[in-house]
Amino acid sequence: MQLIICKDYEEISKRAASEVAAAIAAKPDCVLGLPTGSTPVGMYKNLVSMNKTGEVDFSSVTTFNLDEYYPIEKDDSQSYYTFMYDNLFSHININTSNVHIPSGQSEDTEKFCFEYEEAIREAGGIDLQVLGAGVNGHIGFNEPDDALSLCTHKTALTKNTIEVNSRFFDDISKVPTHAVTMGIKTILDARKIIILISGESKAPVIDAMLSGKITTRCPATLLQLHKDVILITDVATMAKTEK
Ligand code: GLP
Repeated sequence: MQLIICKDYEEISKRAASEVAAAIAAKPDCVLGLPTGSTPVGMYKNLVSMNKTGEVDFSSVTTFNLDEYYPIEKDDSQSYYTFMYDNLFSHININTSNVHIPSGQSEDTEKFCFEYEEAIREAGGIDLQVLGAGVNGHIGFNEPDDALSLCTHKTALTKNTIEVNSRFFDDISKVPTHAVTMGIKTILDARKIIILISGESKAPVIDAMLSGKITTRCPATLLQLHKDVILITDVATMAKTEK
């Protein structure tokens, strides 16, 4: 795993955007795996500006989002669908028929998840997967557990994640209890992965990721199995690690 320590969050955002831009420059019809959460917001801002100035062209790009709450309406202000259009898709020249976001409403989630995996395969697989991480080490919504699922699946959110994510909702009771998420194999099958981690509360996740050990109790540690992963963090977060 390559470690890049940026000066601050702004620099993480620029660096992450330049990785995405480089993937698109190398392969204009590349397939991106995209995250939500507060961490990638700066990266998306940079990509929107770079698209406006003509530095990045999304016209042939295909995207697959990592996860979505379940159940949730597409147009709910807290859906990841809304997040992605607000932060990226409404502001760039992407062909929205190439945008894929897990459904938070499908009645047959098993069928939906199977078809999501099929669609990723048919698109040729993910060239660059961008990730954030939860304070409990989750990636996507693959929560710490004794065993993890390989492929896209419906999962229950942990109490910790519901509490952490309740900051975006009027009330903790409004946080969906479940989600649909890519699985660990879906993520590890990407040709390249970048993971953005910023914030003191996530320093233990970095320690676990650099420990040389893997555990399903901290799903981000499984990224150590991949041959092309870049962990992008900042000085303040690194200062709180044990490294
Ligand atoms: C959510 C998403 C994750 C994301 C995490 C961290 O729970 N499912 O994919 O990485 O939040 O979010 P933040 O960047 O806001 O800390």
